Amino acid sequence: MTSLLILNGPNLNLLGTREPEIYGADTLADVEANCRAHATAKGVDIACVQSNHEGALVDAIQAAKGTHDGIILNAGAYTHTSIALHDAIAGTQVPTIELHLSNVHAREEFRHHSYIARVAVGVICGFGAAGYILAMDAMIGHLETRR
Ligand code: DQA
Repeated sequence: MTSLLILNGPNLNLLGTREPEIYGADTLADVEANCRAHATAKGVDIACVQSNHEGALVDAIQAAKGTHDGIILNAGAYTHTSIALHDAIAGTQVPTIELHLSNVHAREEFRHHSYIARVAVGVICGFGAAGYILAMDAMIGHLETRR
């Protein structure tokens, strides 16, 4: 069975209370519950991991190789700073979709650059919590066309 890793980075544990006008009212537990329900409907397995620590995110990407078929990654602010996350994705070659709740391109200049995008299958941003579902469907479709 196809298995996806839903990987969330720093401050995404604060969803629901963190700048809800930007990130919405859903908590991370709500988002993950929606992902689990969607996974059941689609017949795929998922695991959900969140960490505020860059190295733990690198570890999770490395551990995904051979365990998960694809990664949905909201790397939070590390998107804009982390060569280590770029290298983990490039080094493991696990297909990865970069995801953001907010439209990072309509926000501050420092959010316009991503170290993840050039090693990602694609990027989804600006659709709030629905983006996780869009990303799951996009990854399932991507993996099907690769088979
Ligand atoms: C975010 C956008 C990032 O710029 C920010 O640092 C986050 C959340 C998003 O989901 O919109 O932490 O990844």
